[in-house]
Amino acid sequence: MSIHRDLFNIIVIVLCVCLNWDCTKGVQGRREIDSHIIQLSSLFPSPSSSCVLSTKASNTKSSLHVTHRHGTCSRLTNGKATTPDHVEILRLDQARVNSIHSKLSKKVNDRVRQSQSTNVPAKSGSTLGSGNYIVTVGIGTPKHDLSLIFDTGSDLTWTQCEPCVQTCYSQKEPIFNPSSSSSYYNVSCSSAPCSSLSSATGNAGSCSASNCVYGIQYGDQSFSVGYLAKEKFTLTSSDVFNGVYFGCGENNQGLFTGIAGLLGLGRDKLSFPSQTAKTYNKIFSYCLPSSSRYTGHLTFGSAAISSSVKFTPISTITDGTSFYGLDIVGITVGGRKLAISSTVFSTPGALIDSGTVITRLPPKAYAALRSAFKAQMSKYPSTSAVSILDTCFNLSGYKTVTIPKVAFSFSGGAVVELGSKGILYPFKMSQVCLAFAGNSDDNNAAIFGNVQQQTLEVVYDGAGGRVGFAPNGCS
Ligand SMILES: *[C@@H]1O[C@H](CO)[C@@H](O)[C@H](O)[C@H]1NC(C)=O
Ligand SMILES: *[C@@H]1O[C@H](CO)[C@@H](O)[C@H](O)[C@H]1NC(C)=O
Repeated sequence: MSIHRDLFNIIVIVLCVCLNWDCTKGVQGRREIDSHIIQLSSLFPSPSSSCVLSTKASNTKSSLHVTHRHGTCSRLTNGKATTPDHVEILRLDQARVNSIHSKLSKKVNDRVRQSQSTNVPAKSGSTLGSGNYIVTVGIGTPKHDLSLIFDTGSDLTWTQCEPCVQTCYSQKEPIFNPSSSSSYYNVSCSSAPCSSLSSATGNAGSCSASNCVYGIQYGDQSFSVGYLAKEKFTLTSSDVFNGVYFGCGENNQGLFTGIAGLLGLGRDKLSFPSQTAKTYNKIFSYCLPSSSRYTGHLTFGSAAISSSVKFTPISTITDGTSFYGLDIVGITVGGRKLAISSTVFSTPGALIDSGTVITRLPPKAYAALRSAFKAQMSKYPSTSAVSILDTCFNLSGYKTVTIPKVAFSFSGGAVVELGSKGILYPFKMSQVCLAFAGNSDDNNAAIFGNVQQQTLEVVYDGAGGRVGFAPNGCS
């Protein structure tokens, strides 16, 4: 295919020369359409730059500002960006990917030997990773504002609660105290939501003085244990929900440092979208900002969804899990479709996850992407690999870099061109890497990660069974 195209360009040039046209500009123009020109300084924003708020989150009824955990805009950092430890972020990212893969393969095994076992494996939890995005939600009466990680890969919403009977990790905002809220209710252990815990968390609820007790593990020794409770949740002044089931965690430990808890946006019955389905019909959308100096948005309901969103059906590969499945059918690099046989994608399937940082591809698809990307980046000096990223460039001394555009095609005809910040992972000027990695096994699902989602409007339509994308959702 690429031979055809080069041939086409040569023919155009020859024709132009023969006809004495100045059409080299035309050929160049075609190239520019297929590439992004990025200012290197934009990959490394100054930590002192001030926060720019998303107008969508500020002006839309059911919309919350989304901030990166480490960013200038985060409530947790008092406006001072902290330098993230990229190697640690990528190590945790691999742990999260491993836990997603093991959940999916466990589901397959469960189907095989369905009613055989009643034991819950001790380590069935998902790993949280650390590439997380945060929203602030009001809990209780009077409302207590708390910063929560939002996670499309898990279901139970929880926050740390007083009294901390064993340990609570340190968090920035005061810990929620149910005894100072007039809208807090304990949930009985014979209730339906208590029975839902086993699918929502992987662990059945238990009883303590007839109150329902939950426990959820996230690998890496992170966990939250406490009472399943019912409370008033205030998203915005107009969007207030009485009686949302959530975990009031009196024993919590792990990688959540600074953050009050988690907002579960998965597909299980206990997830926040399922509990608010009457109002929002299980529809939410978000845009993850391209840098820590911008906020993005998390918006519930369908009212503010742009008409340019292209949808793809939620694939059945993730049925029985909380994940949102996708069917990738092709990848285009610099305007050229990679030669990847369709079974490379269809055999393992794919899913989209808000908490996985780097997109994972089946090994053959990644190899094709890497070689096409490298070929088009040949003018830039390459440098050593780092962590899970094996294709890196030394861009010291460059002011701009021209990189090929990357687009994903999904079943149903949706073609999604990644934003310019969705292709490279910048460690430092002398080490800027292709932000994709290959799975180690052909049978492991591909995961569409949050670096690639940056600046896209991503729509989750749980009721319609589809996921959608549009460009330019935020800065
Ligand atoms: C909920 O249960 C805990 C533990 O039994 C108890 O201390 C607390 O007073 C209960 N709260 C309410 C509002 O019933
Ligand atoms: C990166 O490139 C710069 C400028 O060409 C050079 O001085 C530097 O040694 C290179 N660094 C590495 C790690 O290769």
